[in-house]
Amino acid sequence: MRVLSGIQPSGKLHIGNFFGAMRQHLKLQDDNEGFYFIADYHALTSSPTPQKLRENTIDVALDYLALGLNTKKTVFWRQSDVPQVTEFAWILSCITPMGLLQRCVSFKDKVTQGLLPNHGLFAYPVLQAADILIFNSDLVPVGADQKQHIEITRDIAIKFNGTYGELLTLPKDHILESVAIVPGIDGRKMSKSYDNTIGIFESEKQLKKKVMSVVTDSTPVEEPKDPDKCNVFALLKLVASKDELAEWDAKYRNGGTGYGAAKKRLLELLIEYFAPYRAKREELEKNPDYVHKVLEDGAARANAIASETLKKVKKAVGLL
Ligand code: ADP
Ligand code: TRP
Repeated sequence: MRVLSGIQPSGKLHIGNFFGAMRQHLKLQDDNEGFYFIADYHALTSSPTPQKLRENTIDVALDYLALGLNTKKTVFWRQSDVPQVTEFAWILSCITPMGLLQRCVSFKDKVTQGLLPNHGLFAYPVLQAADILIFNSDLVPVGADQKQHIEITRDIAIKFNGTYGELLTLPKDHILESVAIVPGIDGRKMSKSYDNTIGIFESEKQLKKKVMSVVTDSTPVEEPKDPDKCNVFALLKLVASKDELAEWDAKYRNGGTGYGAAKKRLLELLIEYFAPYRAKREELEKNPDYVHKVLEDGAARANAIASETLKKVKKAVGLL
């Protein structure tokens, strides 16, 4: 099965991204044909500075490679290195009803958050549909927030096939197994947009500062505490073994253990969990040529497939 997903280079990736999405992307590459890309054209819709866009793109590449993307098997590229996708997006735009995009929740959310409603932001789902359809993807693993975009992709594909003949593969969404939303250090959903993240590859000093500032209530040390209402416990769940988690559950409920102790252990476990990946990332950072080479190879493989689909599409619509 061909599995495709994209991630926007819109900031430093955090442990919410890892446990909520990347870990599962990486798992899926073992038994499938993995197609993963860095959605830099999509990131452009939120108007980053050129410097930031460049930096974030390389950071996402380094993160994925360090975390175990298998470059021999999986195709990994930067979206803008396969410009056929934007040409295809225009063709799809011309059969996409305005109403379909006007109903889009993610567009409305982003505008509510204060993003400038530029045309790229409005047309975002059409570009996403082009990403998915140009590679004949079967399965698209995404978070629940992206479900509507996959439905829109299917609607566009059905409209295209109905108008020009059965050419495009209808993808299925694969909503990532719902790992509870990872809370940020302020207790809201961890997100690049809220400045509340714990980065996957932050320095130990930075990690310590973040973990120690995770918001808790003010229950005194000696009193019992509810683990299910605690942000530190929610984070411990991601990295502690089952046995250790059961011990912490008991310590919380019995009283006599402070949040400080739980935070200290959380810090140790986070450092331990990501240590091998950190070492790998440091090695990769010293070798930027290798990273560029991986992206170039990925782009060449992606280009070949995209060109083939685009040729068929152009013929079908009367452009060739
Ligand atoms: P952010 O909110 O940080 O900008 P994105 O929207 O780019 O994150 O999300 C990329 C992927 O990571 C999505 O599949 C999303 O579901 C997942 N994800 C992001 N934040 C969290 C979180 N706090 N908990 C679980 N999964 C998350
Ligand atoms: N919109 C996705 C997100 O914000 C990123 C993305 C772009 C994507 N193109 C895609 C995801 C194609 C899956 C398939 O998370």
